[in-house]
Amino acid sequence: MILGRRRRAAEPDLPTLDQARPAGDFVASVLSHLREVVDVGWNLLEVDAEAHRLIREAGATSCYIDYHPVFGASPFGYVICTSVNEGVLHGRPHDRVLADGDLLSLDFAVEVEGWVADSCLSITVGTPRSEDQQLIRDTEQVMWAGIDQVRAGATVGDIGHAVMNQAHSLGYLINDRFGGHGVGRTMHEAPFVPNHGTPGGGAELVAGQLITVEPFLIPTTADLVVDETDGWTQLAVDGSRGAHAEHTLQVTDGDPIILTARSDDPSPRSSQV
Ligand code: MF3
Ligand code: CO
Repeated sequence: MILGRRRRAAEPDLPTLDQARPAGDFVASVLSHLREVVDVGWNLLEVDAEAHRLIREAGATSCYIDYHPVFGASPFGYVICTSVNEGVLHGRPHDRVLADGDLLSLDFAVEVEGWVADSCLSITVGTPRSEDQQLIRDTEQVMWAGIDQVRAGATVGDIGHAVMNQAHSLGYLINDRFGGHGVGRTMHEAPFVPNHGTPGGGAELVAGQLITVEPFLIPTTADLVVDETDGWTQLAVDGSRGAHAEHTLQVTDGDPIILTARSDDPSPRSSQV
């Protein structure tokens, strides 16, 4: 019995197929809802409040509110990242009203029924700039190039290599500091899933594992600098606009399950068609 217990403890804690679906579906539904309702005139604090309301209604648990990793100056304090324009990652909601043509990335992770899902969607509000629409499409295309590599036996290097190649072929540089990650009972677990890599390099994926693929692109640079006013928001160093896309996936022996797929996307891989 003791041996059995030990053996069980040594095994990775992986969800069976379907166990992580409630978390993925909830995250997807919140991002879909926010895409629908958020508009010019919304304050970022209202975006956070709306996401928080939905979390409470669903009995879900925010992964962000108490989160205090090395790259943040203090506990995050909000339930969603709202990165506007030159804000690219980890945008901390603050008292700011969205203006016509703003580019907004919504990054959101929660725990539902013991498993975490994490996803990011970039949108525009009001009249979009065509270059922002292109940037969002390119970022999603780069994300799908990475997702296409995800299967049991592939490595994180295969994913990173595909992400990097696709980004380079569209004319973008890659930032090597931030990337995707394992997901499980908590939001940030091993392995790191970099947005660059060598085929066959790094950790091998196993069936059942949850990971994210999350490229972010800026047309002119890959360098970020933290916003000293909030200690969190990662800004494009040259003030250009950035976009970010992320899904949580469950690895299988074949195509991965896109746990955070949004039902109102034209097709799960709409950016590829
Ligand atoms: N969801 C982000 C990621 O993709 C993490 C944001 S950290 C937070 O890894 F504290 F800002 F929420
Ligand atoms: Co993530």
